[in-house]
Amino acid sequence: MAILDIRKYGDPVLLAPTKPVDEIDAELERLIEDMIDTMYAADGVGLAANQVGVSRRFAVFDLAFVNGLKDEDLLVTINPRIVAREGSQIGEEGCLSLPGMMADIERPMKVTVRAMSMEGEENEIEGEGLLARAFCHEIEHLEGKLFIDNLAPNERGALLREYRARL
Ligand code: NI
Repeated sequence: MAILDIRKYGDPVLLAPTKPVDEIDAELERLIEDMIDTMYAADGVGLAANQVGVSRRFAVFDLAFVNGLKDEDLLVTINPRIVAREGSQIGEEGCLSLPGMMADIERPMKVTVRAMSMEGEENEIEGEGLLARAFCHEIEHLEGKLFIDNLAPNERGALLREYRARL
């Protein structure tokens, strides 16, 4: 078990689109285990690989908040992408890479994600509500964007000024 360093706003790795994973090997498996430990330690609902400095397209999610099931509360998505969106929701969102900052962000109410599992199987996963929000947030990370990029420029600027003032 290892807790990795979570990269914060200002680190260029967060702004670069990640590269697809072409092979699930032992190194990737170890990294994913460390990311899961890191996500739990930070009390996050999701973590994208570039948030721990690895510019590769995969993310992990803690689904305990969605279904409360002990054995199925963890989701690993490799090369995830959103293939369908439906409806909309506005809700407060935060990010481990911008600690302490929250903003209301509009997201689809429901999304369908296509992703590969650790076993290399291509799956479609539907998420509603908070899970749809988590999918959108982490997949945006993998595309080199942050949740604040969804804000109007003046709101985004104000949030970043507040963030810098707190450092
Ligand atoms: Ni985030």
